[in-house]
Amino acid sequence: MSARRQVEHLLEFIDVSPSPWHAVASVETQLLSFQFVKLDEADKWQLKPAGRYYVVRDDSSVIAFVLGQKPLLETGFKIIGAHTDSPGLRIKPKPAIGMDALLRLGVEVYGGPILATFTDRDLSLAGRVVYKNEQGHIVSKLISFDQPLLRLPNLAIHMNRAVNEEGLKLHKQFELPLILSQLSEQQLPQDYFLALLQQQIGVEATRLLSWELNVYDTQKGTLWGAEQEFYADSQLDNLASCHAALQALIDDSVLSAEATVVCGLFDHEEIGSESNKGADGSFLPDVLQRIAWTQQIQGEDLVRSYAKSFMISADMAHAYQPNFPNAYDSEHKVRVNEGPVIKVNVNQRYSSESVSAAQFAGWCEQAGVPYQTYSHRCDLACGSTIGPMVSARLGIRSVDVGSPLWAMHSIRESAGMYDHAYLISVLKTFFVS
Ligand code: CO
Repeated sequence: MSARRQVEHLLEFIDVSPSPWHAVASVETQLLSFQFVKLDEADKWQLKPAGRYYVVRDDSSVIAFVLGQKPLLETGFKIIGAHTDSPGLRIKPKPAIGMDALLRLGVEVYGGPILATFTDRDLSLAGRVVYKNEQGHIVSKLISFDQPLLRLPNLAIHMNRAVNEEGLKLHKQFELPLILSQLSEQQLPQDYFLALLQQQIGVEATRLLSWELNVYDTQKGTLWGAEQEFYADSQLDNLASCHAALQALIDDSVLSAEATVVCGLFDHEEIGSESNKGADGSFLPDVLQRIAWTQQIQGEDLVRSYAKSFMISADMAHAYQPNFPNAYDSEHKVRVNEGPVIKVNVNQRYSSESVSAAQFAGWCEQAGVPYQTYSHRCDLACGSTIGPMVSARLGIRSVDVGSPLWAMHSIRESAGMYDHAYLISVLKTFFVS
């Protein structure tokens, strides 16, 4: 597949994945088309040699794996980890605010988005709604309002004269509610909102119990640049890495790999990963242990398998933006379209160390892919990833890598077309080498 086609496929994936719940549903669709079998955590697992399986926990984290041709004890696990969530705005439990003949929806800030980028965009809602069905059972359903539904209009410059000097500052409680509708005096705000959900989901409002709704940008992803060498979309951090990991996993060579290969895509990274389905929770250890147990590997042998394992933590890296040269370390300017970035931080905000970094560089050389190395400015706080926590919890050697990205945590991020193909290529090489 050409680099361009791979990015178009990524943008299609993001466009049908407006929330982490939808992202996992999109991943499932792809896995099923490659004959992966869904496992239920409540069942007893019987795994066949060379079998392809996946497990979903609470709708927004998924672990897919293919059992290796060689014994686990010989090869260990080869793991790629990434996250399905992106920072943004989430609808509050009682969101409807009726005031001044307008209905607005109250939101809570999820993780660390660049709030100013949410203004003047064609926003909408997507997520999970839970209701009681006719049999009295509690069930959940994914919903997405596909049309532009919500907006956060900016304040005119005539009322905010300093905006270009001081930047747009938005008060999280008072200045983020999103305009949904005009409201007549007869209409009750909460009823109006519930009626909207009812219409979308096809379930009476009285049976709707709760929801998790993400505010997303309806603008589709696009290629851009004189040579169409860049691309832009929402949620590139980190659906681009999820997509790359998945494309690597479903490659023919990987589906018959010697080692047991694992792709773990987790929710809640942007808020610290500490949850039942986050990367710092029990999900990954539970699945790895159960894979081992079905092959009669336990106790000391399980630890021996971990000692032979490796994890690539894939998350986006900060691409150099020449308008802001002072934001970067002068010797660590990573450039778009020049290959995946090995992220290094001596305080272990990234899991890379010299040995794991060298191993990754070796896979890049094997794949014929260029690579770069990033270190953050010392006087700025560095972000983190799922790499250090997974590595700490399981004792598995790990490296943090990712494609260079502009405007991390903006609602519209952008990156280089060739980098996506490079990343897929090296991830495949890692799985089969
Ligand atoms: Co990220």
